[in-house]
Amino acid sequence: MVIRAYFNQRADTWDELIAEKDTGKLERMVKRLDLEPGSTLLDVGTGTGVFLPYLLAKIGAKGRMVGLDVADLMLQQACRKGFRGEAQYICGDIMAVPCPGAMFDAVVCYSSFPHFQDKPRAFREVHRVLKDGGRLLICHTAGRAHINEIHAGKPVVSHDLIPDADEVRKMLFAAGFNEIRIEDGPEDYLVSSRKPVQD
Ligand SMILES: C[S@@+](CC[C@H](N)C(=O)[O-])C[C@H]1O[C@@H](n2cnc3c(N)ncnc32)[C@H](O)[C@@H]1O
Repeated sequence: MVIRAYFNQRADTWDELIAEKDTGKLERMVKRLDLEPGSTLLDVGTGTGVFLPYLLAKIGAKGRMVGLDVADLMLQQACRKGFRGEAQYICGDIMAVPCPGAMFDAVVCYSSFPHFQDKPRAFREVHRVLKDGGRLLICHTAGRAHINEIHAGKPVVSHDLIPDADEVRKMLFAAGFNEIRIEDGPEDYLVSSRKPVQD
């Protein structure tokens, strides 16, 4: 898998060279996610665990966290940070989450969504593993235009782009989500949506 190799090759230097270092941006973003203490979260594309401490602080001691990533060497770096007691790591693909259905209160995709090679399928899979009323939160600490420009300039990820708002909305709706909100600013990007509660 090309994307796994791409991120595995960058795992050693990810935090130093590429990861978001502006803690204020990460703090502001996690606040906007409005996570409930005690929630069970799936963090997709956990990578080296850059966003994990922020998410863990929000869900608190009673929360449960699963970090999912296709790149084992990225996850190895996250493990080394010592969140092990609080976070469980799974090396796997969002296209086929190795979990039984309907177990998460929220699924967070921080800086990973553009890399999902089949986005409609990823959304269907997120829908499957969310509890009724659970939320899918896609976020970046940069705007869509900036992210797409960076990716477009790098051969391996040049097609890993954030689609426009209409397309994202259509894909989410088709996968069964409602309450879809898309906010794209110069400094951040946030999509929130909900799996409806079944009658
Ligand atoms: C740009 S990195 C972001 C990592 C981390 N969230 C951060 O901000 O530093 C994207 C991550 O998503 C992971 N990823 C890409 N496609 C994936 C997929 N289909 N399923 C799970 N993880 C995936 C990559 O392996 C990589 O670790």
